Amino acid sequence: MKAYTTDVALSDLDADLVAVGLFEGEDLSDPLGETAGAADASSDFKSQVTVYPGKPERVAIIGLGAKEDFTPERARVAGAVAQKALKQVRGEALAWMLPDAPEGVDPGLIAAALVEGAGFAAFEFDRYKSGADGREAPPSLKAVEINTGLDIADMVRVGEVVANAGNRARYLQSLPANVATPEYLAGRAREISEANEKVAVEVLDRAAIVAAGMGGLEAVSKGGQDVEPRLITLTYTGRGGGEKLGLVGKSVTFDTGGISIKPAAGMHEMKMDMSGGAAVLEAVAAIAELDLPLDIVAVLPSTENMPSGTALKPGDIITQLNGKTVEVTNTDAEGRLILADALVHCARQGADRMVDLATLTGAVLIGLGSTYAALISNDDDLAAEVTAAGERTGELVWRMPLHDEYKDLTKGEITDLVNASAQRKAGTIYAGSFLEEFTEGKPWAHVDIAGTAWDTGREYWGKGPTGFGVHLLVSLARSFAG
Ligand code: BES
Ligand code: MN
Ligand code: ZN
Repeated sequence: MKAYTTDVALSDLDADLVAVGLFEGEDLSDPLGETAGAADASSDFKSQVTVYPGKPERVAIIGLGAKEDFTPERARVAGAVAQKALKQVRGEALAWMLPDAPEGVDPGLIAAALVEGAGFAAFEFDRYKSGADGREAPPSLKAVEINTGLDIADMVRVGEVVANAGNRARYLQSLPANVATPEYLAGRAREISEANEKVAVEVLDRAAIVAAGMGGLEAVSKGGQDVEPRLITLTYTGRGGGEKLGLVGKSVTFDTGGISIKPAAGMHEMKMDMSGGAAVLEAVAAIAELDLPLDIVAVLPSTENMPSGTALKPGDIITQLNGKTVEVTNTDAEGRLILADALVHCARQGADRMVDLATLTGAVLIGLGSTYAALISNDDDLAAEVTAAGERTGELVWRMPLHDEYKDLTKGEITDLVNASAQRKAGTIYAGSFLEEFTEGKPWAHVDIAGTAWDTGREYWGKGPTGFGVHLLVSLARSFAG
Protein backbone atom coordinates (compact mmCIF):
# COMPACT_ATOMS: atom_id res chain seq x y z
CA MET A 1 0.00 0.00 0.00
CA LYS A 2 1.19 3.47 -0.91
CA ALA A 3 0.14 6.65 0.84
CA TYR A 4 0.63 10.21 -0.32
CA THR A 5 -0.77 13.71 0.00
CA THR A 6 -2.59 15.79 -2.58
CA ASP A 7 -4.15 19.22 -2.44
CA VAL A 8 -7.06 19.43 -4.87
CA ALA A 9 -10.78 20.18 -4.79
CA LEU A 10 -13.10 17.37 -3.65
CA SER A 11 -14.58 17.14 -7.15
CA ASP A 12 -11.13 16.50 -8.64
CA LEU A 13 -10.38 13.44 -6.52
CA ASP A 14 -10.51 10.28 -8.60
CA ALA A 15 -10.00 7.57 -5.98
CA ASP A 16 -12.47 4.65 -5.98
CA LEU A 17 -13.90 6.08 -2.78
CA VAL A 18 -13.46 9.45 -1.12
CA ALA A 19 -13.95 9.55 2.65
CA VAL A 20 -15.32 12.72 4.20
CA GLY A 21 -15.58 13.02 7.96
CA LEU A 22 -18.53 14.58 9.74
CA PHE A 23 -18.18 16.04 13.24
CA GLU A 24 -21.09 16.51 15.60
CA GLY A 25 -22.90 19.80 15.05
CA GLU A 26 -21.36 20.35 11.62
CA ASP A 27 -23.12 20.20 8.27
CA LEU A 28 -21.86 18.79 5.00
CA SER A 29 -20.84 21.57 2.67
CA ASP A 30 -22.53 21.79 -0.72
CA PRO A 31 -22.61 20.28 -3.27
CA LEU A 32 -22.09 17.19 -1.10
CA GLY A 33 -24.89 18.18 1.25
CA GLU A 34 -27.36 18.23 -1.64
CA THR A 35 -26.44 14.81 -2.95
CA ALA A 36 -29.18 12.20 -2.77
CA GLY A 37 -28.75 10.14 0.40
CA ALA A 38 -26.52 12.66 2.13
CA ALA A 39 -29.28 13.49 4.58
CA ASP A 40 -28.96 9.93 5.93
CA ALA A 41 -25.39 10.62 7.04
CA SER A 42 -24.74 10.94 10.74
CA SER A 43 -21.96 12.35 12.87
CA ASP A 44 -22.19 9.35 15.23
CA PHE A 45 -18.71 7.99 15.59
CA LYS A 46 -18.08 5.05 13.20
CA SER A 47 -21.28 5.54 11.19
CA GLN A 48 -20.91 5.40 7.42
CA VAL A 49 -23.12 6.32 4.46
CA THR A 50 -21.96 6.15 0.85
CA VAL A 51 -23.37 8.65 -1.64
CA TYR A 52 -22.81 9.20 -5.36
CA PRO A 53 -22.32 12.88 -6.24
CA GLY A 54 -20.91 12.17 -9.72
CA LYS A 55 -17.73 14.09 -9.14
CA PRO A 56 -16.17 12.39 -7.35
CA GLU A 57 -17.98 9.17 -8.13
CA ARG A 58 -18.40 7.89 -4.56
CA VAL A 59 -18.15 9.58 -1.21
CA ALA A 60 -18.32 7.79 2.12
CA ILE A 61 -19.53 10.16 4.81
CA ILE A 62 -18.03 8.93 8.05
CA GLY A 63 -19.24 9.99 11.48
CA LEU A 64 -16.39 11.26 13.63
CA GLY A 65 -18.29 12.12 16.83
CA ALA A 66 -17.50 15.26 18.78
CA LYS A 67 -14.55 17.19 17.44
CA GLU A 68 -13.00 17.66 20.86
CA ASP A 69 -12.97 13.87 21.34
CA PHE A 70 -11.21 13.24 18.04
CA THR A 71 -7.81 11.65 18.61
CA PRO A 72 -5.33 9.75 16.44
CA GLU A 73 -6.81 6.54 17.84
CA ARG A 74 -10.29 7.59 16.69
CA ALA A 75 -8.75 8.46 13.32
CA ARG A 76 -7.33 4.93 13.11
CA VAL A 77 -10.82 3.56 13.69
CA ALA A 78 -12.31 5.98 11.13
CA GLY A 79 -9.63 4.85 8.66
CA ALA A 80 -10.79 1.28 9.16
CA VAL A 81 -14.45 2.25 8.62
CA ALA A 82 -13.47 3.91 5.33
CA GLN A 83 -11.52 0.84 4.24
CA LYS A 84 -14.53 -1.38 4.90
CA ALA A 85 -16.69 0.91 2.74
CA LEU A 86 -14.02 0.80 0.02
CA LYS A 87 -13.96 -2.97 0.13
CA GLN A 88 -17.72 -3.14 -0.25
CA VAL A 89 -17.43 -1.41 -3.59
CA ARG A 90 -14.41 -3.54 -4.50
CA GLY A 91 -12.20 -0.47 -4.67
CA GLU A 92 -8.44 -0.30 -4.34
CA ALA A 93 -7.77 3.43 -3.98
CA LEU A 94 -9.01 5.45 -1.05
CA ALA A 95 -8.85 9.20 -0.58
CA TRP A 96 -9.50 11.13 2.62
CA MET A 97 -10.48 14.73 2.87
CA LEU A 98 -8.32 15.34 5.95
CA PRO A 99 -10.65 16.27 8.82
CA ASP A 100 -9.69 19.26 10.97
CA ALA A 101 -7.68 18.29 14.00
CA PRO A 102 -9.05 19.59 17.29
CA GLU A 103 -7.05 22.17 19.26
CA GLY A 104 -3.75 20.78 20.44
CA VAL A 105 -3.78 17.68 18.22
CA ASP A 106 -1.13 17.41 15.51
CA PRO A 107 -2.88 17.06 12.11
CA GLY A 108 0.10 15.02 10.90
CA LEU A 109 -0.69 12.38 13.52
CA ILE A 110 -4.34 12.35 12.43
CA ALA A 111 -3.32 11.86 8.81
CA ALA A 112 -0.88 9.07 9.65
CA ALA A 113 -3.55 7.39 11.76
CA LEU A 114 -6.11 7.47 8.92
CA VAL A 115 -3.56 5.70 6.73
CA GLU A 116 -2.70 3.16 9.45
CA GLY A 117 -6.35 2.37 10.17
CA ALA A 118 -7.15 1.80 6.51
CA GLY A 119 -3.96 -0.17 5.97
CA PHE A 120 -4.47 -2.44 8.97
CA ALA A 121 -8.14 -3.00 8.16
CA ALA A 122 -7.20 -4.13 4.65
CA PHE A 123 -5.05 -7.00 5.91
CA GLU A 124 -6.14 -10.39 4.59
CA PHE A 125 -4.38 -13.70 4.98
CA ASP A 126 -5.60 -15.53 1.90
CA ARG A 127 -2.44 -17.29 0.85
CA TYR A 128 -3.94 -20.70 1.56
CA LYS A 129 -7.28 -20.09 -0.16
CA SER A 130 -7.02 -22.14 -3.33
CA GLY A 131 -9.97 -20.47 -5.05
CA ALA A 132 -11.66 -23.89 -5.26
CA ASP A 133 -14.64 -22.45 -3.40
CA GLY A 134 -15.28 -20.19 -6.38
CA ARG A 135 -14.59 -17.10 -4.31
CA GLU A 136 -13.12 -14.22 -6.23
CA ALA A 137 -9.88 -12.88 -4.80
CA PRO A 138 -10.79 -9.81 -2.76
CA PRO A 139 -9.48 -6.47 -4.00
CA SER A 140 -6.55 -5.18 -2.00
CA LEU A 141 -5.88 -1.67 -0.80
CA LYS A 142 -3.29 -0.15 -3.12
CA ALA A 143 -3.32 3.56 -2.29
CA VAL A 144 -4.41 5.98 0.40
CA GLU A 145 -4.43 9.61 -0.57
CA ILE A 146 -4.67 12.31 2.08
CA ASN A 147 -6.08 15.46 0.58
CA THR A 148 -4.93 18.50 2.53
CA GLY A 149 -3.36 21.92 2.19
CA LEU A 150 -1.01 21.11 5.06
CA ASP A 151 2.60 20.07 4.64
CA ILE A 152 2.37 16.67 6.33
CA ALA A 153 3.77 14.34 3.69
CA ASP A 154 6.41 13.07 6.16
CA MET A 155 3.80 11.86 8.61
CA VAL A 156 1.74 10.26 5.86
CA ARG A 157 4.83 8.35 4.87
CA VAL A 158 5.29 7.20 8.49
CA GLY A 159 1.69 5.95 8.42
CA GLU A 160 2.37 4.04 5.22
CA VAL A 161 5.56 2.42 6.53
CA VAL A 162 3.94 1.50 9.86
CA ALA A 163 0.82 0.01 8.24
CA ASN A 164 2.84 -2.09 5.82
CA ALA A 165 5.27 -3.24 8.52
CA GLY A 166 2.43 -4.09 10.89
CA ASN A 167 0.75 -6.13 8.18
CA ARG A 168 3.99 -7.98 7.40
CA ALA A 169 4.25 -8.91 11.09
CA ARG A 170 0.62 -10.08 10.98
CA TYR A 171 1.44 -12.21 7.97
CA LEU A 172 4.32 -13.86 9.87
CA GLN A 173 2.00 -14.42 12.85
CA SER A 174 -0.58 -16.07 10.60
CA LEU A 175 1.82 -18.48 8.96
CA PRO A 176 1.55 -21.97 10.42
CA ALA A 177 4.42 -23.52 12.34
CA ASN A 178 5.20 -25.91 9.50
CA VAL A 179 6.10 -22.86 7.40
CA ALA A 180 7.24 -20.16 9.82
CA THR A 181 10.08 -22.08 11.43
CA PRO A 182 13.05 -20.46 13.18
CA GLU A 183 14.99 -20.73 9.92
CA TYR A 184 12.10 -19.02 8.09
CA LEU A 185 12.36 -16.08 10.50
CA ALA A 186 16.13 -16.04 9.97
CA GLY A 187 15.43 -15.88 6.23
CA ARG A 188 13.16 -12.89 6.75
CA ALA A 189 15.92 -11.23 8.83
CA ARG A 190 18.40 -11.79 5.98
CA GLU A 191 15.89 -10.30 3.54
CA ILE A 192 15.61 -7.17 5.69
CA SER A 193 19.39 -6.91 5.80
CA GLU A 194 19.66 -7.36 2.03
CA ALA A 195 17.16 -4.57 1.46
CA ASN A 196 19.03 -2.10 3.65
CA GLU A 197 22.77 -1.69 3.91
CA LYS A 198 22.48 -0.29 7.43
CA VAL A 199 21.06 -3.59 8.67
CA ALA A 200 23.34 -6.55 9.35
CA VAL A 201 22.26 -10.00 10.50
CA GLU A 202 23.93 -12.88 12.29
CA VAL A 203 22.29 -16.27 12.76
CA LEU A 204 23.46 -18.92 15.22
CA ASP A 205 22.46 -22.56 14.71
CA ARG A 206 22.01 -25.20 17.40
CA ALA A 207 25.71 -26.01 17.70
CA ALA A 208 26.62 -22.33 18.01
CA ILE A 209 23.82 -21.74 20.55
CA VAL A 210 25.18 -24.58 22.68
CA ALA A 211 28.77 -23.42 22.24
CA ALA A 212 27.84 -19.88 23.26
CA GLY A 213 26.37 -21.14 26.53
CA MET A 214 22.78 -20.19 25.88
CA GLY A 215 21.47 -22.92 28.14
CA GLY A 216 17.87 -21.71 28.07
CA LEU A 217 17.51 -21.71 24.31
CA GLU A 218 19.40 -24.98 24.13
CA ALA A 219 17.09 -26.60 26.69
CA VAL A 220 13.82 -25.47 25.11
CA SER A 221 14.95 -26.55 21.65
CA LYS A 222 15.94 -30.06 22.75
CA GLY A 223 12.46 -31.46 22.25
CA GLY A 224 12.35 -30.60 18.56
CA GLN A 225 15.11 -32.43 16.76
CA ASP A 226 13.52 -31.93 13.37
CA VAL A 227 13.04 -28.16 13.36
CA GLU A 228 16.29 -26.45 14.29
CA PRO A 229 16.54 -23.43 16.62
CA ARG A 230 18.07 -20.12 15.63
CA LEU A 231 19.41 -17.15 17.56
CA ILE A 232 18.92 -14.23 15.21
CA THR A 233 20.70 -10.92 15.81
CA LEU A 234 20.00 -7.87 13.66
CA THR A 235 21.93 -4.65 14.00
CA TYR A 236 20.78 -1.38 12.53
CA THR A 237 23.34 1.40 12.35
CA GLY A 238 21.32 4.52 11.71
CA ARG A 239 23.63 6.88 13.53
CA GLY A 240 26.87 5.07 14.38
CA GLY A 241 28.05 5.71 17.91
CA GLY A 242 26.02 6.96 20.81
CA GLU A 243 23.26 5.13 22.56
CA LYS A 244 22.17 1.73 21.34
CA LEU A 245 18.60 0.50 21.78
CA GLY A 246 18.25 -3.22 22.40
CA LEU A 247 15.13 -5.07 21.24
CA VAL A 248 14.29 -8.67 22.06
CA GLY A 249 11.34 -10.63 20.66
CA LYS A 250 10.13 -14.02 21.86
CA SER A 251 10.07 -16.25 18.79
CA VAL A 252 8.66 -19.62 19.78
CA THR A 253 7.33 -20.83 16.44
CA PHE A 254 5.13 -23.39 18.16
CA ASP A 255 4.47 -23.83 21.87
CA THR A 256 3.00 -27.21 22.75
CA GLY A 257 4.09 -26.67 26.33
CA GLY A 258 6.70 -29.41 25.95
CA ILE A 259 6.49 -32.28 28.45
CA SER A 260 4.25 -30.03 30.58
CA ILE A 261 1.96 -30.24 27.58
CA LYS A 262 -0.93 -27.86 26.94
CA PRO A 263 -4.53 -29.04 26.49
CA ALA A 264 -5.50 -29.79 22.88
CA ALA A 265 -8.27 -27.19 22.65
CA GLY A 266 -6.81 -24.00 21.29
CA MET A 267 -3.28 -25.36 21.05
CA HIS A 268 -3.17 -24.53 17.33
CA GLU A 269 -3.17 -20.87 18.27
CA MET A 270 0.29 -21.32 19.72
CA LYS A 271 1.68 -20.82 16.23
CA MET A 272 1.47 -17.16 17.24
CA ASP A 273 3.99 -17.56 20.06
CA MET A 274 6.53 -15.84 17.83
CA SER A 275 4.52 -12.62 17.74
CA GLY A 276 7.12 -10.68 19.74
CA GLY A 277 9.83 -11.69 17.29
CA ALA A 278 7.64 -10.86 14.30
CA ALA A 279 6.97 -7.39 15.71
CA VAL A 280 10.66 -6.77 16.43
CA LEU A 281 11.71 -7.94 12.94
CA GLU A 282 9.24 -5.77 11.09
CA ALA A 283 9.78 -2.80 13.40
CA VAL A 284 13.50 -2.93 12.55
CA ALA A 285 12.58 -3.10 8.86
CA ALA A 286 10.30 -0.06 9.26
CA ILE A 287 12.90 1.90 11.25
CA ALA A 288 15.45 1.20 8.53
CA GLU A 289 12.98 2.22 5.82
CA LEU A 290 12.42 5.48 7.64
CA ASP A 291 16.19 5.84 7.99
CA LEU A 292 15.83 6.91 11.62
CA PRO A 293 19.06 8.20 13.16
CA LEU A 294 19.64 5.72 15.99
CA ASP A 295 21.41 2.42 16.54
CA ILE A 296 19.63 -0.82 17.35
CA VAL A 297 20.57 -4.33 18.24
CA ALA A 298 17.65 -6.75 17.97
CA VAL A 299 17.69 -10.34 19.17
CA LEU A 300 15.22 -13.12 18.34
CA PRO A 301 15.62 -16.38 20.24
CA SER A 302 13.69 -18.80 18.08
CA THR A 303 12.70 -22.41 18.62
CA GLU A 304 9.77 -24.77 18.87
CA ASN A 305 8.72 -26.07 22.30
CA MET A 306 8.05 -29.76 21.72
CA PRO A 307 7.68 -32.91 23.82
CA SER A 308 9.80 -35.88 22.77
CA GLY A 309 12.29 -38.43 24.05
CA THR A 310 14.98 -35.78 23.90
CA ALA A 311 12.90 -32.99 25.43
CA LEU A 312 13.63 -30.91 28.49
CA LYS A 313 11.94 -32.47 31.53
CA PRO A 314 10.33 -30.91 34.58
CA GLY A 315 13.00 -30.84 37.27
CA ASP A 316 15.88 -30.45 34.84
CA ILE A 317 18.46 -27.88 35.85
CA ILE A 318 19.99 -25.57 33.26
CA THR A 319 22.57 -22.80 33.24
CA GLN A 320 21.67 -19.60 31.45
CA LEU A 321 24.11 -17.46 29.47
CA ASN A 322 24.99 -15.30 32.48
CA GLY A 323 25.76 -18.34 34.66
CA LYS A 324 22.54 -18.29 36.69
CA THR A 325 21.05 -21.72 37.27
CA VAL A 326 17.37 -22.52 36.81
CA GLU A 327 15.31 -25.49 37.87
CA VAL A 328 12.70 -25.97 35.15
CA THR A 329 9.61 -26.87 37.12
CA ASN A 330 7.30 -26.33 34.15
CA THR A 331 8.46 -26.76 30.56
CA ASP A 332 5.54 -24.61 29.40
CA ALA A 333 7.20 -21.59 31.00
CA GLU A 334 9.71 -21.72 28.13
CA GLY A 335 9.57 -18.11 26.98
CA ARG A 336 11.43 -16.74 29.99
CA LEU A 337 14.19 -19.33 29.50
CA ILE A 338 14.96 -18.26 25.95
CA LEU A 339 14.44 -14.55 26.65
CA ALA A 340 16.87 -14.74 29.57
CA ASP A 341 19.70 -15.74 27.25
CA ALA A 342 18.57 -13.27 24.59
CA LEU A 343 18.57 -10.34 27.04
CA VAL A 344 22.08 -11.19 28.24
CA HIS A 345 23.24 -11.55 24.64
CA CYS A 346 21.59 -8.25 23.71
CA ALA A 347 23.33 -6.44 26.58
CA ARG A 348 26.65 -8.01 25.61
CA GLN A 349 26.11 -6.77 22.05
CA GLY A 350 26.20 -3.26 23.46
CA ALA A 351 22.57 -2.41 24.14
CA ASP A 352 22.32 0.50 26.57
CA ARG A 353 18.57 0.09 27.12
CA MET A 354 16.45 -2.93 26.29
CA VAL A 355 12.82 -3.53 25.42
CA ASP A 356 11.46 -7.03 25.02
CA LEU A 357 8.16 -8.09 23.50
CA ALA A 358 6.79 -11.51 24.34
CA THR A 359 3.60 -13.56 24.35
CA LEU A 360 4.71 -14.65 27.78
CA THR A 361 1.80 -15.41 30.09
CA GLY A 362 -1.82 -16.45 29.89
CA ALA A 363 -2.20 -14.47 33.12
CA VAL A 364 -1.95 -11.17 31.26
CA LEU A 365 -5.15 -12.04 29.40
CA ILE A 366 -6.90 -12.51 32.73
CA GLY A 367 -5.50 -9.29 34.13
CA LEU A 368 -5.72 -6.89 31.23
CA GLY A 369 -7.67 -8.66 28.49
CA SER A 370 -6.85 -7.58 24.96
CA THR A 371 -6.84 -3.83 25.54
CA TYR A 372 -3.55 -3.24 27.36
CA ALA A 373 -0.32 -5.17 27.22
CA ALA A 374 1.52 -5.49 30.53
CA LEU A 375 4.64 -3.43 31.05
CA ILE A 376 7.23 -4.39 33.61
CA SER A 377 10.34 -2.29 33.97
CA ASN A 378 13.28 -1.60 36.25
CA ASP A 379 13.52 2.00 35.04
CA ASP A 380 10.92 4.75 35.45
CA ASP A 381 12.16 6.87 32.53
CA LEU A 382 12.11 4.00 30.07
CA ALA A 383 8.74 2.85 31.41
CA ALA A 384 7.39 6.36 30.83
CA GLU A 385 8.77 6.42 27.28
CA VAL A 386 7.20 3.06 26.45
CA THR A 387 3.89 4.10 28.01
CA ALA A 388 3.87 7.33 26.00
CA ALA A 389 4.66 5.47 22.78
CA GLY A 390 1.73 3.18 23.56
CA GLU A 391 -0.59 6.14 23.97
CA ARG A 392 0.56 7.68 20.69
CA THR A 393 0.04 4.47 18.75
CA GLY A 394 -2.97 2.87 20.41
CA GLU A 395 -0.75 -0.07 21.40
CA LEU A 396 -1.48 0.54 25.03
CA VAL A 397 0.63 -0.75 27.90
CA TRP A 398 -0.13 -0.77 31.62
CA ARG A 399 2.70 -0.99 34.10
CA MET A 400 2.80 -3.70 36.74
CA PRO A 401 5.14 -3.59 39.71
CA LEU A 402 8.34 -5.32 40.62
CA HIS A 403 8.85 -6.06 44.32
CA ASP A 404 11.22 -8.14 46.44
CA GLU A 405 8.34 -10.32 47.58
CA TYR A 406 7.61 -11.26 43.96
CA LYS A 407 11.30 -11.87 43.47
CA ASP A 408 11.26 -14.31 46.37
CA LEU A 409 8.73 -16.43 44.49
CA THR A 410 11.26 -16.99 41.71
CA LYS A 411 14.09 -18.18 44.00
CA GLY A 412 15.03 -21.87 43.89
CA GLU A 413 15.58 -24.38 46.68
CA ILE A 414 18.54 -25.96 44.94
CA THR A 415 19.16 -23.46 42.14
CA ASP A 416 19.30 -19.69 41.78
CA LEU A 417 15.86 -19.60 40.17
CA VAL A 418 12.87 -21.75 39.33
CA ASN A 419 11.03 -20.95 36.11
CA ALA A 420 7.49 -21.36 37.50
CA SER A 421 5.97 -21.51 40.95
CA ALA A 422 3.44 -24.03 42.17
CA GLN A 423 1.40 -21.19 43.64
CA ARG A 424 -0.22 -19.45 40.72
CA LYS A 425 0.44 -16.02 42.16
CA ALA A 426 1.00 -12.95 39.96
CA GLY A 427 1.89 -14.96 36.86
CA THR A 428 2.75 -12.00 34.67
CA ILE A 429 4.87 -10.28 37.30
CA TYR A 430 6.57 -13.57 38.16
CA ALA A 431 7.77 -13.84 34.58
CA GLY A 432 8.91 -10.21 34.58
CA SER A 433 10.76 -10.67 37.89
CA PHE A 434 12.48 -13.69 36.42
CA LEU A 435 13.56 -11.76 33.33
CA GLU A 436 14.94 -8.91 35.44
CA GLU A 437 17.67 -11.30 36.60
CA PHE A 438 19.05 -11.20 33.06
CA THR A 439 19.07 -7.49 32.32
CA GLU A 440 22.75 -7.01 33.21
CA GLY A 441 22.03 -3.80 35.10
CA LYS A 442 20.58 -2.06 32.04
CA PRO A 443 17.35 -0.09 31.95
CA TRP A 444 14.85 -2.59 30.62
CA ALA A 445 11.16 -2.76 29.77
CA HIS A 446 9.28 -5.98 29.24
CA VAL A 447 6.01 -5.92 27.32
CA ASP A 448 3.81 -9.01 27.71
CA ILE A 449 1.69 -9.15 24.56
CA ALA A 450 -0.01 -12.52 25.10
CA GLY A 451 -3.39 -10.76 25.29
CA THR A 452 -2.88 -8.16 22.57
CA ALA A 453 -1.07 -10.06 19.80
CA TRP A 454 -4.17 -11.92 18.63
CA ASP A 455 -7.95 -11.53 18.52
CA THR A 456 -8.32 -8.11 20.10
CA GLY A 457 -11.41 -7.29 18.06
CA ARG A 458 -10.14 -3.73 17.71
CA GLU A 459 -11.92 -2.10 14.74
CA TYR A 460 -8.81 -1.91 12.54
CA TRP A 461 -7.36 -5.30 13.51
CA GLY A 462 -10.45 -7.45 13.86
CA LYS A 463 -9.92 -11.12 14.69
CA GLY A 464 -6.57 -12.80 14.31
CA PRO A 465 -3.11 -11.25 14.32
CA THR A 466 -2.51 -7.62 15.30
CA GLY A 467 1.21 -7.04 14.80
CA PHE A 468 1.07 -5.44 18.25
CA GLY A 469 4.37 -3.79 19.06
CA VAL A 470 5.49 -2.81 15.58
CA HIS A 471 4.00 0.65 15.82
CA LEU A 472 5.01 1.02 19.46
CA LEU A 473 8.65 0.25 18.69
CA VAL A 474 8.74 2.52 15.64
CA SER A 475 7.26 5.32 17.71
CA LEU A 476 9.74 4.68 20.52
CA ALA A 477 12.61 4.71 18.03
CA ARG A 478 11.31 7.97 16.54
CA SER A 479 11.32 9.52 19.97
CA PHE A 480 14.82 8.19 20.81
CA ALA A 481 16.08 9.43 17.45
CA GLY A 482 14.47 12.74 18.42
N1 BES B 1 3.09 -18.90 25.13
C1 BES B 1 2.52 -19.07 26.41
C2 BES B 1 1.68 -17.87 26.87
C3 BES B 1 0.46 -17.55 26.07
C4 BES B 1 -0.80 -17.85 26.54
C5 BES B 1 0.56 -16.85 24.88
C6 BES B 1 -1.91 -17.50 25.82
C7 BES B 1 -0.56 -16.49 24.16
C8 BES B 1 -1.81 -16.81 24.63
C9 BES B 1 3.62 -19.28 27.45
O1 BES B 1 4.75 -19.93 26.99
C10 BES B 1 3.05 -20.12 28.52
O2 BES B 1 2.74 -21.25 28.26
N2 BES B 1 2.97 -19.59 29.74
C11 BES B 1 2.45 -20.31 30.85
C12 BES B 1 3.36 -20.08 32.03
C13 BES B 1 3.05 -20.94 33.21
C14 BES B 1 3.35 -22.40 32.90
C15 BES B 1 3.88 -20.49 34.39
C16 BES B 1 1.06 -19.79 31.13
O3 BES B 1 0.84 -18.59 31.07
O4 BES B 1 0.19 -20.61 31.41
MN1 MN C 1 4.55 -22.03 27.10
ZN1 ZN D 1 5.14 -19.75 24.98
